[in-house]
Amino acid sequence: MTFGCQMNVADADWLTQALVSRGWAAVSEGEAQVFVVTTCSVREKPEQKVYSLLGRLKSHVDRNPDVFVAVGGCVAQQVGEGFWERFPFVRLVFGTDGMAMVPQTLERLAIHPDQRISLLDFLDHYPERELTQDGAVGAQAFVNIMQGCDNFCAYCIVPYTRGRQKSRASDAVLTECGSLVRRGTRELTLLGQNVNSYGQDRHGDGTSFAALLQRVASIPGLLRLKFTTSHPKDIAPEVVEAFGQVPNLCPQLHLPVQAGSDAVLKAMGRKYTRAHYLDIVRSLRAACPHIALTTDIIVGFPGETAQDFEETLSLVKQVRFLSSFSFKYSDRPGVRAEKMGLKVPEEEKSRRLAILQDLQNCITAEELARTVGTEAEVLVEGRSKMQDSDVHCWKGRDEAGRIVNFPAQGDDLTGKMARVRILAAKKHSLLGEIRGDVW
Ligand code: 5AD
Ligand code: SF4
Repeated sequence: MTFGCQMNVADADWLTQALVSRGWAAVSEGEAQVFVVTTCSVREKPEQKVYSLLGRLKSHVDRNPDVFVAVGGCVAQQVGEGFWERFPFVRLVFGTDGMAMVPQTLERLAIHPDQRISLLDFLDHYPERELTQDGAVGAQAFVNIMQGCDNFCAYCIVPYTRGRQKSRASDAVLTECGSLVRRGTRELTLLGQNVNSYGQDRHGDGTSFAALLQRVASIPGLLRLKFTTSHPKDIAPEVVEAFGQVPNLCPQLHLPVQAGSDAVLKAMGRKYTRAHYLDIVRSLRAACPHIALTTDIIVGFPGETAQDFEETLSLVKQVRFLSSFSFKYSDRPGVRAEKMGLKVPEEEKSRRLAILQDLQNCITAEELARTVGTEAEVLVEGRSKMQDSDVHCWKGRDEAGRIVNFPAQGDDLTGKMARVRILAAKKHSLLGEIRGDVW
């Protein structure tokens, strides 16, 4: 049961594969003997969701005392063995660096019902995990290139829960990517909290992120390459240029801006200005005019005035992000912003969030509408919720990450590429018709 960011999703996928290769099976909630919950504490809401899930899982333990729960990820790192007091059926807590040890630890716990184990230590190196070299792979896969973060943005708990930045050796990244592509993966996403500073910590092996991108992109058979997340202060000119030069690097970039006013950016400790961010956007568009930009925005950071918020709105209008994730600032335990004065009242945060999201929805709709009449290459992710009575409908993403739904007769298209003509734009997705063969 997975909450939170793509790194958690990737961790949970790896754990599933590792457990299946040891003879475990994924089953439905009612049949499970062990629940593995991967948690998120980046904001208050996802953290609350974890506690309500654990409350619900207690009913399974009440029915069958052999059932137990393992809690991993950021809440586990933060609360640690404290879980054992509140939820005695939690018998394993593990942080990101403990993940590599989880398969064998679960085996041990299943045999010894009296034991509890915590894997919460931060390691001094990137903990390599066993690679599952056989078994089915999806058309899309995530590959970790680093762990942790050194930035300590004032609002953010990640450096405390995921530890200091540790780059993974480039050869290990290449081996995993190569193995996935050989087995059928067509799209890779390189993952890290701050991929642009890959290799710049003392664990790096001298390979820069730009060089790593080039090496991964040249794996024969790789159709699409993406990466996330980028910190604007660390994006190198070589990475910007790669968008104009590397044919399989997708024309999309998630570049969290967080705020549009220099005063708020400074208080957040983001180490760039509005002008610097806009310069990066200009150079990205010069390198790749059709690049789709997405972002994260926090409203109501302590001290954010009405004028500061106006500057966030004006930046959004200026950049015209394809989409954005926006959040009300929430206090996280132990971060610098928790102790800052001038907290913005809850109602005011809600008001600003609604205004920002209305603006973004209009821009998203306009940007999607601009694609009507064009053709896109779509990597199909599976069946679409939208259904036609006679034919199956499929859902996938174009190279810029826009969701495209289209009907098609015949075989399962999951994992296939299709050329699709865009016929209409909806609020958050596109509708099209298939043109020619799929591959
Ligand atoms: N409050 C609100 N949003 C936050 N984020 C991180 N920490 C907080 C917080 N304390 C947002 C940032 C980040 C995204 C993953 O979550 O926008 O980019
Ligand atoms: Fe958090 Fe800032 Fe690191 Fe992103 S760069 S994980 S926002 S501290």
